[in-house]
Amino acid sequence: MGIVISPSILNSDFGNLRGELTKIAGADVAHVDVMDNHFVPNLSIGLPVAEAVIKQGILPADTHLMIEDPDRWAPAYAEAGCVNVTFHAEAAVAPIRLARELRKLGARAGLALRPATDVTPFLDLLEEFDLILVMTVEPGFGGQSFIEAMLPKVRRTRDAITRAGLNVDVQVDGGISRATIERAAAAGANNFVAGTAIFRSGDPAAEVQALRELAEAAYRD
Ligand code: DX5
Ligand code: ZN
Repeated sequence: MGIVISPSILNSDFGNLRGELTKIAGADVAHVDVMDNHFVPNLSIGLPVAEAVIKQGILPADTHLMIEDPDRWAPAYAEAGCVNVTFHAEAAVAPIRLARELRKLGARAGLALRPATDVTPFLDLLEEFDLILVMTVEPGFGGQSFIEAMLPKVRRTRDAITRAGLNVDVQVDGGISRATIERAAAAGANNFVAGTAIFRSGDPAAEVQALRELAEAAYRD
């Protein structure tokens, strides 16, 4: 699996979006955290900012929808041109129907699981998705600490993907830094979201490169 580094712009300077994206141009995608203050206790950004990211033409948008009623709201992100549209399993009424709609609109379909959500019911449905996001913190805020207990879930997800012969990203999001990325990669994650580790460092470009090298060396199928 190719390693994907997805810096979260949640803790970047929105007043200088273009400059912030330029700093992380060596990454693969820009992670856009959409929060509605209902699914999570925080309100962040929405479709206009995802569109602004895409319009800059620096990195594709990897959108993480932490919202209620994604069945209603997610397709617009695919229509806008987000490369990945990831919605939460706990919020979707008809996840398969929604994933198929997102793919039909040209996006890759992602399914996100909160820390306490079991992946088992979704292991038979992997072919319907391009990405499984195993949350490694409770969604809602940047800067939280990595939940080690998620590593077996990452491993179970990767093993099921390998057994099925599929090409599905396993993304981890929350508390990813130089201190944790190797354990997540060794557990089978190939796609890494990092917010504060990148944007609160003195040199975001160097941090992207350092995380990539650590992940490449540690990744295990
Ligand atoms: C949390 C968001 C994350 C967050 C990551 O709900 O989904 O993408 O911005 O931030 P860090 O890397 O600081 O944990
Ligand atoms: Zn996220």
